[in-house]
Amino acid sequence: MNYNKKTVYDIDVAGKKVLLRCDFNVPQDKATGAITSDKRIVAALPTIRYLLGQGAAVIACSHLGKPEPSFEKWVKKQTEKGKDPAELTEEKWQKSLKKLTLAPVAERLSELLGKPVVFAHDVVGPDAKAKAAALKGGEIMLLENTRFEKGETKNDPALAKELASMAEVYVSDAFGSVHRAHASTAGVAAYLPAVSGLLVAKELEVMGKALDDPKRPFVAVLGGAKVSDKIAVINNLLEKADTVIIGGGMAYTFAKAQGGEIGKSLLEEDKCAYALEMIEKAKAKGVKLLLPVDTVVAGEFPNPIDAPVDVETVDVTAIPADKEGLDIGEKTRALFADAIKNAKTVVWNGPMGVFENPTLAKGTIAVAQALADSDAVTIVGGGDSAAACEQLGFADKITHISTGGGASLEFLEGLELPGIACLQDK
Ligand code: 3PG
Repeated sequence: MNYNKKTVYDIDVAGKKVLLRCDFNVPQDKATGAITSDKRIVAALPTIRYLLGQGAAVIACSHLGKPEPSFEKWVKKQTEKGKDPAELTEEKWQKSLKKLTLAPVAERLSELLGKPVVFAHDVVGPDAKAKAAALKGGEIMLLENTRFEKGETKNDPALAKELASMAEVYVSDAFGSVHRAHASTAGVAAYLPAVSGLLVAKELEVMGKALDDPKRPFVAVLGGAKVSDKIAVINNLLEKADTVIIGGGMAYTFAKAQGGEIGKSLLEEDKCAYALEMIEKAKAKGVKLLLPVDTVVAGEFPNPIDAPVDVETVDVTAIPADKEGLDIGEKTRALFADAIKNAKTVVWNGPMGVFENPTLAKGTIAVAQALADSDAVTIVGGGDSAAACEQLGFADKITHISTGGGASLEFLEGLELPGIACLQDK
């Protein structure tokens, strides 16, 4: 995939209306709706400030959550979840949509920018159109949640055209959403000159370089629960890295595939053959594949997740029948940290254990610490590992923490990302 895309620096935006796709899909408190992390809003500020500074009129847009814009489909989905259809009123559906309004984001954005952010109560309706038409250079507005429109996730050209009709230039700065082929992330680029914002440009530069022209040794650290989620990533990184480290829940499928006893640990039986194939592929390519040697086990998965838990450390291939592996052991932590220490580029995606539990976070902390201590180019991609780095206080010691969860995973898989492919080449 070509990452060499035009950016806001390559196009004249002075005095122009610019449709700016951001990823303002921020986490919110379930009860109060308060934004619990404004990281994604902060990440969009450099592009917004640049555009406003150039005299552009910025029409920002984003999705938030997964609203269901059709009442009939909402009823169907709720019924499938076990809700009583008699209780599923139109009023309740409207309420579910209201919870996902971008109004609180407009407020927070205004605080961060120190200037008013005009909020449109629809996406391409009369309010948005009137406010966009009245917007002057140096001013900013935010459209309502793009997923309130039925055509958004279907990448409906009619919606894309309506969005485009309000602006003269399209800027994509929603890195977290570039893996989605939606009307506001990709479709709209068919109707306007389309370039990347500064966040997308930085993500492409750092991660693109790490994959295509890394300083070596290049070590990839992969964790997370399931092999099936990481199949394409393991496969792609075995083509690029010098060492691939596999930890987290998926390591138990690798242990089982090699004849180990893994007790009650997470197993994807149908992925054992794939695990063996990857072990063979690594050998054939001369890539070092590091798997855990020991593991921290408990009788039960903690419930709630941060509840106190009794643990012991055992060999990863000799887990007692009544125990479940929930983190990498001490020897493995040292083994992985050692490999990271000698790297010049490290890419990490996925925790090593149940990092939400203090007793089972040691493996993830060890990896985060090894990245933080390293002089290498260190890149953390993915929601959970990024969250772990932040929670554990290592974020400022990492070269780049991607703002994309699913998007950075697809990037590491080497897939074409629709929200990038639609932008003008340099
Ligand atoms: C994310 O949070 O990963 C992005 O905003 C994409 O959200 P989505 O999975 O709802 O498309």
